[in-house]
Amino acid sequence: MAGKLKWVTDIEKSVLINNFEKRGWVQVTESEDWNFYWMSVQTIRNCFSVENGFRLSDDQLVNHFPNHYELTRKDLMVKNIKRYRKEQEKEGSPLAEKDENGKYLYLDFVPVTFMLPADYNLFVEEFRKSPSSTWIMKPCGKAQGKGIFLINKLSQIKKWSRDSKTSSFVSQSSKEAYVISLYIDNPLLIGGKKFDLRLYVLVTTYRPLKCYMYKLGFCRFCTVKYTPSTSELDNMFVHLTNVAIQKHGDDYNQVHGGKWTVSNLRLYLESTRGREVTDKLFHEIHWIIVQSLKAVAPVMNNDKHCFECYGYDIIIDDKLKPWLIEVNASPSLTSSTANDRILKYNLINDILNIVVPNGEIPDCKLNKLPPTEVLGHYHLLYDEEAAQADGAERDLKSRGGQPTGVKGSRAKDSGRPAMTTWK
Ligand SMILES: Nc1ncnc2c1ncn2[C@@H]1O[C@H](COP(=O)(O)OP(=O)(O)O)[C@@H](O)[C@H]1O
Ligand SMILES: [Mg+2]
Repeated sequence: MAGKLKWVTDIEKSVLINNFEKRGWVQVTESEDWNFYWMSVQTIRNCFSVENGFRLSDDQLVNHFPNHYELTRKDLMVKNIKRYRKEQEKEGSPLAEKDENGKYLYLDFVPVTFMLPADYNLFVEEFRKSPSSTWIMKPCGKAQGKGIFLINKLSQIKKWSRDSKTSSFVSQSSKEAYVISLYIDNPLLIGGKKFDLRLYVLVTTYRPLKCYMYKLGFCRFCTVKYTPSTSELDNMFVHLTNVAIQKHGDDYNQVHGGKWTVSNLRLYLESTRGREVTDKLFHEIHWIIVQSLKAVAPVMNNDKHCFECYGYDIIIDDKLKPWLIEVNASPSLTSSTANDRILKYNLINDILNIVVPNGEIPDCKLNKLPPTEVLGHYHLLYDEEAAQADGAERDLKSRGGQPTGVKGSRAKDSGRPAMTTWK
């Protein structure tokens, strides 16, 4: 069996195992020599923990970056994006341009968010500016809609704070951290229902940034018609698009699972709103994804043994503005429908073709850029090296062919970049 890739996983999902077996790879246990480990986020924490002192060798690959949580924890994602905005502003980047009310023209793509309890006072200040707004409380360390609730009065948050202080004997430090975000109360509705997008983005390196967008994302619909009415604030079937929530609804459809493909959404929008605004919307979605990755790239441990497939949650509002809601490190590989199973099997297949070229034992010393033929349903979303080379070339041309030296290699984005600078 020499020469065959040895795999391990602690996630018992058939879409993974079938893909490994199809390639003739050999299953081993964690304690044996392995080349490829598809692991849960708990395991990656142990794998790279200081106590463990575990060092991966050149022929080993894992499916998370060690500190992926900089992007995938709700509080840290916002913190990093806020820091990125300030940095852009300091550098005088045109990306950080603001309108007359002091709002970022381009970098305002996450709903206003505060950490609780740390930023409680800042939150109260903001709340008082627009007391009729609705806010959404989300525990930082949970997923699948667990622990989320909506509020529209300060008294509700005071009650939450009191309850969480007195509900147990846990110390202040182990008390659960929350984020509170402005609730997007004007979502784009289709058939009267709210939905969000689940998009898959593969990152193979952060410095330089190289990321791929999966063409087969989908929309997840609520089962109950949307209303911003305060009497329905507690009805999670109206407000939360998570399948884990909606599948318990009376009107959940087992056949389509409340899902639409992104290409269906595109067709729907092209026919109801027109081609131009639809293209603009998708361009903006791609743009905010790249910005979110750029925001965390400097703090990411760019370990060469790592890649990661993120599940992006995006909400589109009724003005066709996309909002980044959160990024998941372990997007669900559970199949809720037959189509879902095919999609997730193909997703894993395409990831493996990119990160394990030809299914051979990995060699992290080689820095291969996969040829377009192996990308499957992925397309290159952003390649920092190519963008910089492109920027340098444009610079060169604009200076009448004079070499531009060090300065010339800076690829400064101006405003929201045009499609051509993505590749
Ligand atoms: N700021 C917001 N405005 C509107 N809807 C939101 C907002 N934040 C979250 N949601 C809804 O709640 C769902 C769950 O929130 P999310 O942040 O993705 O947490 P989870 O980790 O539990 O999935 C989202 O898929 C979306 O439908
Ligand atoms: Mg989510």
